[in-house]
Amino acid sequence: SAVYPFYGRHQAGIVTPAQDRLHFAAFDVSAGTTRAQLIELLQEWTVASAAMTAGQEIGEYGAISGPYDAPPEDSGEAQGLPTAGLTITFGFGPSLFETADGVDRFGLARRRPADLTPLPHFPGDDLDVGKSDGDLCIQACSNDPQVAVHAIRNLSRIAFGRAALRWSQLGFGRTSSTSTSQATPRNLFGFKDGTANIKAEEPDVVTDQVWVSASDGPAWLAGGSYLVARRIRMTIETWDRSILSEQEAVFGRTKGAGAPLSGGTEFSEPDFALAGRADQPLIGAAAHVRLAHPAQNNGTKLLRRGYNFVDGNDELGRLKAGLFFISFQRSPAQFTSVQLNLARHDALNEYIRHVGSALFAVPAGTLDGGYVGAPLFA
Ligand code: HEM
Repeated sequence: SAVYPFYGRHQAGIVTPAQDRLHFAAFDVSAGTTRAQLIELLQEWTVASAAMTAGQEIGEYGAISGPYDAPPEDSGEAQGLPTAGLTITFGFGPSLFETADGVDRFGLARRRPADLTPLPHFPGDDLDVGKSDGDLCIQACSNDPQVAVHAIRNLSRIAFGRAALRWSQLGFGRTSSTSTSQATPRNLFGFKDGTANIKAEEPDVVTDQVWVSASDGPAWLAGGSYLVARRIRMTIETWDRSILSEQEAVFGRTKGAGAPLSGGTEFSEPDFALAGRADQPLIGAAAHVRLAHPAQNNGTKLLRRGYNFVDGNDELGRLKAGLFFISFQRSPAQFTSVQLNLARHDALNEYIRHVGSALFAVPAGTLDGGYVGAPLFA
């Protein structure tokens, strides 16, 4: 089972081959927490994350070796489980730097990246504020759901008194591949998802589209990225009543192989000009892959790393299903460009609803002995 080091130049969990399971959590720093206490929290989170991603229990004594008269330092449910590729990725929300009403709680307002402002309102947005935004985020991915949950649970415990969970999301199946070594998985509409994604094996594209460069500024974020999270409900009952040709037209790809409707196989480049009957292009004007393609977005690409979710059901017996969309990009403007295009014209909009949204600056990787985000506080 894979083990990914916590320390490194970039944070793990971005170009790392997408694991199958997700536990994502957004936190708000608790009232009264000082800058020094925030730094301490990040230091403790770093040490615990390095331990858990290496397959070790947290704390000095772990789950069962501590004193009988104290609560165990590690909650214990990951005992005996391999890390299954656990990665833990941290991000800082706009409100950490300055609250919506302009309060600079931690002396960070001057260091806020110019690009780190809340995302604009997009047409059709139906956002639940309680399931959006946050001062801090942690993305835990693993091929074992219990390992991912153990990570978030223990990091939340460590935060006690200093930061509290604002919202969280479990994901049970990856909806993208981030490496050519992976097979393309499927989303809950039954389509292959991740075909045209940025892959780790394209280092030039990753450098150009994913990592913030020193010249982008601010200096503390160089080697980092921006994480966009969108909780997207999928009305699968409506989708399941739509005919196969409509389903394929919505995406512009076949449901079986995932090939573009203009022909070829899964990884063939779509030909958006190729006419079908009556001079209609085979990939229509409102097809998702046409609107999301770099050709329609000034060459912009995103590194998508989302997950399927089903959060129980509603009182009418419909599954609360969807896609927890995550993308990493060098600038939030990349996401905004694509999402504006989609929000206005995408045929998929008949079957989806964006219900949660968040943006975080993801600092570069941590050096051994340092702590996550240290350059921000230097
Ligand atoms: C492509 C599904 C939301 C950006 C695709 C593909 C599918 C898909 C099946 C084609 C295969 C592939 O290349 O991965 C979905 C579903 C969504 C959703 C079910 C919502 C529930 C979004 C959002 C964005 C986005 C919100 C960004 C704002 C992209 C991009 C591509 C893509 C950039 C690649 C286009 C290309 O270069 O050909 N999506 N998607 N998608 N999607 Fe989505």
